[in-house]
Amino acid sequence: MADPTPANWRAADDYLADTLVGHDPGLEAALASQAAAGLPAIEVAPVAGKLLGLLVRIAGAHRILEIGTLGGYSTIWMARAAGADGRVVTVEAEPDIARIARRSIDEAGVGERVEIRIGRASDVLPTLAGSDPFDLVFIDADKESNTLYLDWAARLGRPGTVVVVDNIGRDGEITDQSSVDSKVVGTQRALTMLGTDPRFDATALQTVGVKGWDGVAIAVVV
Ligand code: DHB
Ligand code: MG
Repeated sequence: MADPTPANWRAADDYLADTLVGHDPGLEAALASQAAAGLPAIEVAPVAGKLLGLLVRIAGAHRILEIGTLGGYSTIWMARAAGADGRVVTVEAEPDIARIARRSIDEAGVGERVEIRIGRASDVLPTLAGSDPFDLVFIDADKESNTLYLDWAARLGRPGTVVVVDNIGRDGEITDQSSVDSKVVGTQRALTMLGTDPRFDATALQTVGVKGWDGVAIAVVV
């Protein structure tokens, strides 16, 4: 048996990505542009991008909301999976980052499916109320605001809307009830909300791989 080290998690994750995910020049160019701009490599792993794409297809999602665009990697995954009549609204707080994402999304050939809304999500999300409900919401922004984002996911969704929250493992620190790390506390509050708020039915999976020890929560709006 291989030792359960971070290097071996990474090797196994690379093996799974090579075996199941394959290569997409648009996605790989988006990562290169993100790196060239000096942005952190905190996009989802390839296997997780594929998971998002599969969830879009399994749910038959056409209207998708993403909170936290970064370089557009997960945006492109979901836009590809949504098909030609799919729409992704993605919220990015930083205009300079949104500009990089815009170019990568356009160059990946899915620009017409993606609207980038620039601003703090807490300001942008209320402006999305009143339109058709979103079928899938991916939350991957500042962890301190995760409960606010979950509240908006429920309000902007409908029964059956799929909600995915990134980064719920945080190197196992979620079990530390005395943590003063605001990202850990924000994550713990989000998990508590997913477990107690009657608007959600949820689970979460820990992950190890190219992004270290982390995890993803998956919920449905009931
Ligand atoms: C962080 C944020 C992310 O969305 C991620 O995938 C990894 C790390 C962070 O803020 O630490
Ligand atoms: Mg993330």
